[in-house]
Amino acid sequence: MTSQSPQHPETGTTGPEEPNLDFAGTTPYEDYVKADVLTHLQHPLSDDPGEMAFLVTTQVMELWFTVIVHEWHTASRALRADDLNRALAALRRSTYELTSLNASWEPLAHLTPAQFNSYRSALGEGSGFQSAMYRRMEFLLGEKSAAMLVPHRGAPRVHAELEKALHEPSLYDEVLGYLARRGEDVPRPVLERDVSLRYEPDPGVEAVWARIYSGDPGSDLLRLGEALTEVAELVWRWRNDHLTATRRAMGAKQGTGGSAGVAWLEKRARKNVFPELWTARSHV
Ligand code: HEM
Repeated sequence: MTSQSPQHPETGTTGPEEPNLDFAGTTPYEDYVKADVLTHLQHPLSDDPGEMAFLVTTQVMELWFTVIVHEWHTASRALRADDLNRALAALRRSTYELTSLNASWEPLAHLTPAQFNSYRSALGEGSGFQSAMYRRMEFLLGEKSAAMLVPHRGAPRVHAELEKALHEPSLYDEVLGYLARRGEDVPRPVLERDVSLRYEPDPGVEAVWARIYSGDPGSDLLRLGEALTEVAELVWRWRNDHLTATRRAMGAKQGTGGSAGVAWLEKRARKNVFPELWTARSHV
């Protein structure tokens, strides 16, 4: 790649204060960001001018899901290696990213049913329910379900990634393993559970968190508990913002993915992420 300090086309000046304009091939920015690819992946299915915001918001959210999965993998690996600081740093980054993810609801949060109807039928049976990256987030939180692989049978790479994620310990499984190695009394059946099944709350784990939260307020395990609580709350906010946007845009109609719509989402939004971190608070 060659570059020089050319004459600026508008100011006519040359010098080190001007950015380079001359590159032999594509710009280094393009080589890194792939902006040309990214900004040509928008193919609306209707003529409605509002559909572009729906499509791009969905794509933006997919990108945030991807980063958050990356952070939670980093945190999981760090916990497995007993590197709490590295895990906490990844969890903290993920809370900033979750905050940005949640802020991206804004363009879709004010749709009227008539506005949404303008392109809804063009979506056919397409639904965020079929998002594999969202499903990987849910799996990492312990919300495992083999049935959620079924929609992806036709996409071998996606299916293989999801299958791997189903059989790997979740982020919460890694947390509980770490707590046990730190001498906490995590029940053996929890540590030896089949990690491909949905995590079910356990009174012994609740007792562990209650003890941590009743103890030294400066302890690093309490910091871990609070970092996970932050994540849990932000995920709960995403689910609730999604629910509210859906209520505004389509009332009680059936979802494009075939579910009962709002009623189904309400049930999903009621679930607590990292359940014992919430129930333990009653015992402190
Ligand atoms: C106003 C816009 C939206 C409406 C009306 C809406 C509606 C729905 C409905 C009714 C469902 C239930 C499944 C179904 O039958 O389709 C659903 C699920 C879902 N949607 Fe949306 N959605 C909207 C925007 C989005 C966006 C932008 C995303 C980002 C990717 C998204 C991601 C999801 C996910 C991940 C699920 C599955 C949730 C779970 O498994 O618990 N949705 N949506």
